[in-house]
Amino acid sequence: LRSLLRNSSDASRVTRRGFASGSAPERKVAILGAAGGIGQPLSLLMKLNPLVSHLSLFDIAGTPGVAADVSHINTRSEVVGFMGDENLGKALEGADVVIIPAGVPRKPGMTRDDLFNINAGIVKSLCAGIAKYCPNALVNMISNPVNSTVPIAAEVFKKAGTYDEKRLFGVTTLDVVRAKTFYAGKANVNVAEVNVPVIGGHAGVTILPLFSQATPQANLPHDVIVALTKRTQDGGTEVVEAKAGKGSATLSMAYAGAIFADACLKGLNGVPDVVECSFVQSTVTELPFFASKVRLGKNGVEEVLGLGSLSDFEKEGLEKLKPELKSSIEKGIQFANQN
Ligand code: NAD
Ligand code: LMR
Repeated sequence: LRSLLRNSSDASRVTRRGFASGSAPERKVAILGAAGGIGQPLSLLMKLNPLVSHLSLFDIAGTPGVAADVSHINTRSEVVGFMGDENLGKALEGADVVIIPAGVPRKPGMTRDDLFNINAGIVKSLCAGIAKYCPNALVNMISNPVNSTVPIAAEVFKKAGTYDEKRLFGVTTLDVVRAKTFYAGKANVNVAEVNVPVIGGHAGVTILPLFSQATPQANLPHDVIVALTKRTQDGGTEVVEAKAGKGSATLSMAYAGAIFADACLKGLNGVPDVVECSFVQSTVTELPFFASKVRLGKNGVEEVLGLGSLSDFEKEGLEKLKPELKSSIEKGIQFANQN
């Protein structure tokens, strides 16, 4: 965030001198669900990103206020709010990146899969809009259950004839953000220097942090690694319980969503070696979608990177997560093709 803020003040200086359009290509980012708990702080963070020239904020309610508010910030992008399904097309037209945090969040006692019945339909109709109005956009799926909403999106795009597996991403960055924070706390290292890949999916045991690959290395004892793994897997639930019925992670998710969208924009702009973990179409395991490190480029996914070497504990975790992840993927595919 510090670097986003620094960049944004650079961007505003540039804008005042009138060089903005020369400094970075025009890029339109659309946020669907922009007036929600994630949508609002994410809109703020994307407004601070100097790589964005047009910020399009869409929701079924509340977007005029959020857009008016965010638009007063003196950074590069022009902000427009769109409300109601009839305006989805205008919100999406010309978008390079579409971020989707639309849908209901968990309450205590619920799993992410309990959100399926409501969120699957929301995602399906928003993706039909993307296929129609901005079929080439990179889609950043935040809405839960990500393990199913990404396959739903893929099926909708296939049916519309617009599917490009390089352009569809489940956002799992919050798992990486959490793994980095929790690891730094235990390893007593500077959190800003920490890297931890997180693979699999985005729900409970399907979230598999690879602390054996964490840098800087700390040689933590096995029981600490087990506890860190569990805390990362339960990070979302920790927030849901602390919020006690008022929703799930919004601020840390907005931060994570902004990091991932920034990586997509950098990739589109040709910045080399942009690597983030994401839940994408994959051949890294036998499952059709899987989260792993991905190199981003001018067309979205440039390369899905392998898993690297895993500890015995991680190998066990990998085998354990496969049945649940497989059934969540199949549930999404089935929903998209039945309804
Ligand atoms: P929220 O209820 O605060 O906001 C959701 C917003 O979506 C609301 O403003 C609502 O009006 C809007 N919306 C509903 N239907 C819509 C539609 N058809 N088109 C456009 N907008 C629509 O919820 P939140 O806390 O922002 O969470 C949103 C989603 O993100 C949830 O599904 C949650 O589980 C998920 N989430 C994912 C991650 C992740 O790591 N991927 C992290 C946190 C939350
Ligand atoms: C998270 O990981 O915080 C999100 O997926 C929201 C949730 O329901 O836990």
